[in-house]
Amino acid sequence: MLTKNKDRILIVDDEKEIGQALELFLADEGYVPSLASDGSTALDMLANGKDYTVMLLDISMPGLNGITVLKRLQDAGSDTAVIMMSGHGSEELAVECMRNGAEDYISKPFALEDMLQRIERARAHRRERIEKRQLQQEREDFILMLSHDMKNPLTAVIGSIDIIREGCLGAVNDEQEEYLQSAIDSCNEVVTMIDNLLDIRKFEAGKIQMTIHHYDAGEIISKVAHQFSRPARHDGIELSVNVDPGAHGVAVDKNSFTRVLGNLLGNALKFTPEDGNITVSCNFIPENEVSSVTIPVYAQAPPDFLKSGSFVKLAIYNSGNGILPDELDRIFDRYTQFARKTGRERGGAGLGLAYCKLAIESFHGVVWAESENGQGSTFVILLPCCSDGTTK
Ligand SMILES: Nc1ncnc2c1ncn2[C@@H]1O[C@H](COP(=O)(O)OP(=O)(O)OP(=O)(O)O)[C@@H](O)[C@H]1O
Ligand SMILES: [Mg+2]
Repeated sequence: MLTKNKDRILIVDDEKEIGQALELFLADEGYVPSLASDGSTALDMLANGKDYTVMLLDISMPGLNGITVLKRLQDAGSDTAVIMMSGHGSEELAVECMRNGAEDYISKPFALEDMLQRIERARAHRRERIEKRQLQQEREDFILMLSHDMKNPLTAVIGSIDIIREGCLGAVNDEQEEYLQSAIDSCNEVVTMIDNLLDIRKFEAGKIQMTIHHYDAGEIISKVAHQFSRPARHDGIELSVNVDPGAHGVAVDKNSFTRVLGNLLGNALKFTPEDGNITVSCNFIPENEVSSVTIPVYAQAPPDFLKSGSFVKLAIYNSGNGILPDELDRIFDRYTQFARKTGRERGGAGLGLAYCKLAIESFHGVVWAESENGQGSTFVILLPCCSDGTTK
């Protein structure tokens, strides 16, 4: 239940009688009303730091009209709920006001009781809006705090375990080394999850920083695949890499591209049943063969994407249950995970593919998944081939 005591209401109307009638009525109802006879005075009163819960704003006034005042309030990020008042009562005007952030709209003449009800409603909506925003902010702060506070100690844990695994503190046998490596892999999975989360937020805020250079995609994917050969062997999974000879020059941020491939290979490993297989390939597609490439509609490639010359195509196939046709476009959405039993699956947050999509699109490429249910899945990345594969 909202208490109306001390809630400030700003009445903005050049018609003195209406303003004064509202002022008296609202004071009787327990509010703290103030009166402004034009838009500039109202904006000055708000700028003076007083927190008005609701503003009753006349649309047609000399000087600044109500819609201009409303827009200025929105631009300033004001929390004041605005109820527009108009003598004309045109629907279009009401729509424009609501589109510009007004809480409500009332036509003159109006019954004071009707206005009172609208004020109560506007106050309740305003409170909900503020609470929702505070909750969102708390969530963001919490995620950031959790991410930073988890990543640093985890990195330290990885470093310490690695020192022991390398035998710097005394000999370790093969079995011990294997266990220590598994511990490192698990910590790295959490670090990747945190990095995905933080970078997705940076992408959304337009604050991601990429250092783009030309690299040989075949070389990068071979290195990443090599890092997965041990866990694949451990799980009885055959991992093969086929890199075509020839040009594979792509313009990417190396760290980010490596993480994209790590996410895709991590998924392949996670969703391949024991004794299954993973195949990684890298092909050059010259301009005259691009017509043989079909990008599914759900990959949302930019128009004329395939007309921009030659491409490098990376594909990561894994055997297993695959992905259902109607899930193929949704798996790239944040926090989307589908239950499919391989018997070896481990948690995850459903963020890896969302990160991959954002990163590949930032390299002007396209990523998608193909799967015939029951026959495994293939994740494909298509990137414009830049020149001769000159690398940095
Ligand atoms: N190779 C694959 N085979 C079958 N399903 C897959 C494969 N890769 C992804 N998926 C499906 O897509 C979902 C989303 O994948 P994504 O990488 O975004 O999240 P995750 O692996 O579950 O968690 P995270 O990557 O955050 O650790 C997975 O949960 C799974 O349902
Ligand atoms: Mg994943």
